[in-house]
Amino acid sequence: MAEKGSLSRVYDWFDRQLPVTELMENHATKYPTPKNLTYWWNFGSLAAIFLVIQILTGILLAVQYKNDPTLAFDSVQRIVRDVEWGWLIQPMHAIGASFFFLVMFIHLGRGMVYGSYKSPRALLWLIGCALFMVLVIAGFTGYLLPWGQMSYWAAQVITEVFSAVPVVGQTLVEWVRGSFVVSDATLSRMFTYHIVLVPILFIMLTVVHISALHKVGSSNPTGVEIDKKEKDKFATFHPLTTAKDAWFGLLVLMVFFAFVFFAPHYFTPVAQFIEANPLQTPPEIVPEWYFLSMFAILRSIPEKLLGVVALFGSVGILFFLPLLDRSPVKRAFSRPIFRWGLLLFFLDFIYLGYLGTKPPLGANLVAGQIATLYYFLFFLSLPLVTWLEAKMAAKKGAKDE
Ligand code: HEM
Repeated sequence: MAEKGSLSRVYDWFDRQLPVTELMENHATKYPTPKNLTYWWNFGSLAAIFLVIQILTGILLAVQYKNDPTLAFDSVQRIVRDVEWGWLIQPMHAIGASFFFLVMFIHLGRGMVYGSYKSPRALLWLIGCALFMVLVIAGFTGYLLPWGQMSYWAAQVITEVFSAVPVVGQTLVEWVRGSFVVSDATLSRMFTYHIVLVPILFIMLTVVHISALHKVGSSNPTGVEIDKKEKDKFATFHPLTTAKDAWFGLLVLMVFFAFVFFAPHYFTPVAQFIEANPLQTPPEIVPEWYFLSMFAILRSIPEKLLGVVALFGSVGILFFLPLLDRSPVKRAFSRPIFRWGLLLFFLDFIYLGYLGTKPPLGANLVAGQIATLYYFLFFLSLPLVTWLEAKMAAKKGAKDE
């Protein structure tokens, strides 16, 4: 027998003391995946790709970034202009945030279309919702760091919403800001949350998310669960999924790098190129595109406390989806009422995003209120929709007999 190379010997040394091969086979190479998954099932791995990009570019940025209001803005400009490769790393992180949100919206939307939140994947969905909340926190805390005009004023507006909470409102605002206004104390805590808390939560929750996925397995586009014993309906993760993930990932990365190279400031508002000035409010305060729908929900309700409840409720309600929708039918396309309700929900969400860019006055305010109402009605009507669909199915069954 040929003598083993030194690399194989090192591998064997690890494998004797750690479950390397076992983990690789169970979770990567030999992990059984339904053969009929479409490209909609690629967005989970895309999310993982953008998570890695954000963490790596984030570490490199943190090395040069100055966490101090008198230096923060200049330090970001310096990174882009003077630091080796800074021109690449900084836009990768900024545009990466937008791509991460986009991928996450599609991943979440796919889950809603294919009933991925239903048994046996309800816990998987809940962990996903927690991941989405971490992403929202990451987006919010990270936006303050460049200390531009929009950073400062967006933080001022968003932290102010806590003042609507009865009794403890003002204390809560000061606690979040670390001061009476957004200041160096706020920057310090947002920086710490962004570079310590957020990555830890992301990594921990992603590991749990994937573990939960591998316990129950992926769903599939038919909406009918495949029995683990039906071996011919599964392929091993490698090479089927690895190849699909790799080429689709490369395709999306090409679009991503097209933005990074040719439109690095595409998602950055002009006010972000002016250093934060606590004495001058910009003409309009608009959040990043991925927060626009939530922003529209907040502003559509003139009563401050209700607006805040709706804002947090718009994300919180995702956690209740497995409870609200108890229909045994998974695939939206196979459900006569739900499919139209869901389509309208997606359009409603996009429309809310559009309204988030407009001042909440006159017709826009009314439109925002109707769109917000539908946003919540969609979720809250699910028990009724399920009941109606069951009735329709029973009627059809009786007719067929
Ligand atoms: C950092 C964020 C996330 C990462 C890295 C991630 C990763 C993944 C991966 C790799 C898969 C398997 C491939 C696929 O089905 O697309 C998956 C499946 C899934 N994810 Fe995520 N995910 C994230 C966030 C979320 C969010 C925000 C939700 C929903 C609230 C979610 C819910 C699900 C569900 C329900 C499945 C199972 C899909 C099925 O088989 O039907 N994930 N995730």
